[in-house]
Amino acid sequence: MQDIDTFLQNNKDWAQKVTAQDPTFFEKMTKTQSPELLWIGCSDSRVPAEIVVGAQPGEMFIHRNIANQVIATDFNCLSVIQYAVNVLQVKHVVVCGHYNCGGVRAALSKQNSSLLITNKWLMHIKNVYRLHQAEIDALPTQDLRVNKLVELNIIEQVHALSHASIIQESWTKHNSPTLHGWVYNLSDGLLNSLISINSGAEIHPIYQYIADEA
Ligand code: CO
Repeated sequence: MQDIDTFLQNNKDWAQKVTAQDPTFFEKMTKTQSPELLWIGCSDSRVPAEIVVGAQPGEMFIHRNIANQVIATDFNCLSVIQYAVNVLQVKHVVVCGHYNCGGVRAALSKQNSSLLITNKWLMHIKNVYRLHQAEIDALPTQDLRVNKLVELNIIEQVHALSHASIIQESWTKHNSPTLHGWVYNLSDGLLNSLISINSGAEIHPIYQYIADEA
């Protein structure tokens, strides 16, 4: 366990090292940002977004929450998506989950009476489980069931992105961004792609917006 002051000292060391390598680095950072990628990941401390893909400051716009969810009424996540898509015009949106996710594991258990708020957040994942219950229940161990739900939840969240007005409007206007679902393996540090959806993909009619009357 690190002392809190260690983090501040590490920060000083890091800033010094970066400046030594590129004296104009922080000056460039103050000007603007033009990341190509929006990352929607799990809050889990073991999946540090920039580190696992070798990204530098300025390269990724990031939103993280428990179990990497895209909820249609979550203005926090939607604000991030709107800014990333409409203003920064990111080319890609990645939903990244990870195997052995504590949030997904909790969603497959009884509700915890001491975590009343968290229960509500995990309710959406319980719904993903119910959509795929037969496939998940057929697996022989709880670890396998958790990891299957991890994958299905990532795919579900990518579909949820495609149902958002922000994404559909941007697809119509700019043919962008492409949506991706990735899963991270804690045991080897590797990412795998599970799904990608391009602009122009067929969205189920119940999630399409009615075109404006001419
Ligand atoms: Co997690």
